[in-house]
Amino acid sequence: MSELILFGRPLPALPPASTLPDWQQADPRWMASALQIALGRSGGGWFVVDERRRFGVEASKSPPRRYCIDDREFVIWHGPNGLMAAPDACPHMGASLAAGCVRQGRLKCPWHGMELGDKPQGAWRPLPLHDDGVLVWVRLDDAGEAPTERPFLPLRPDRYIDAVVRLEARCRPEDLLANRLDPWHGVHYHPHTFRRLRVVERRDDEITVRVAFAVLGRLAVEVDARFHCPDPRTIVMTIVAGDGAGSVVETHATPIDDTRCAVIEATLATSDRPQMKYVLPLARWARPWLERRASRLWIEDVAYAERRRVVLDAQSRAASG
Ligand code: FES
Ligand SMILES: [Fe+2]
Repeated sequence: MSELILFGRPLPALPPASTLPDWQQADPRWMASALQIALGRSGGGWFVVDERRRFGVEASKSPPRRYCIDDREFVIWHGPNGLMAAPDACPHMGASLAAGCVRQGRLKCPWHGMELGDKPQGAWRPLPLHDDGVLVWVRLDDAGEAPTERPFLPLRPDRYIDAVVRLEARCRPEDLLANRLDPWHGVHYHPHTFRRLRVVERRDDEITVRVAFAVLGRLAVEVDARFHCPDPRTIVMTIVAGDGAGSVVETHATPIDDTRCAVIEATLATSDRPQMKYVLPLARWARPWLERRASRLWIEDVAYAERRRVVLDAQSRAASG
């Protein structure tokens, strides 16, 4: 590790690191307990659907889109005052409304032309939707959580470059959270991205690490990053010290059905350096680079989460005889 060339803001000194190998420091009991705390929280019924950018800005260029959340199909479209969400099945005979079109903010069914907007039609009615500018959320009031007016958004920086990736995985949301509650795997499983990592502080429900992110060759930037779960489907990494302090990576796990879920991860990168004002206009070029890095990690972490699900399912089958 001595060959690393570190740059960036100096970080507070730490006591000597543990000499135990990482596999002995990685504590499955702590991970399981932190995960249970997260799963015991409420998400207010809110589920992240997708990145905001995917829906475009102009209704005329953005057809309705269909999503499946927790085994239910929804359609999202541009209404007269912003994005709207509703069940995808037409209340007349069940056509998929996502296959229809939008006329002056109203959904037009492709089968017989019924037009639907903000008024209920029988059991069909629009759902609460929240557009936070980076992500789009819908609220499912039958999800078993006391509904809240807004999702519990983690603290975000005032100015940032955002990048969002979306992948699907054959596992449950908790498997994706469990992956991120195990920082010890970072250097071993993602050596292309993490050059050095040690746990700085561990509380019941959050963990802070000092991690060196690879930049180029032996060049790496070292920061302190904290992971915590504000709701049962989200884990947030916040840079708490070093360059980029205040940047966040929000990882949202949205169930699709019993066996699949979506990982929707938003990176909001910031810096208090004066040069940030020159970087912000370059967002469209920086974004693909951020997205490539996030996708590369998540391709590997999806494999981790899917493997965890296979192992746990096998254990519970064995236990039930
Ligand atoms: S199925 Fe939609 S109008 Fe008939
Ligand atoms: Fe990972």
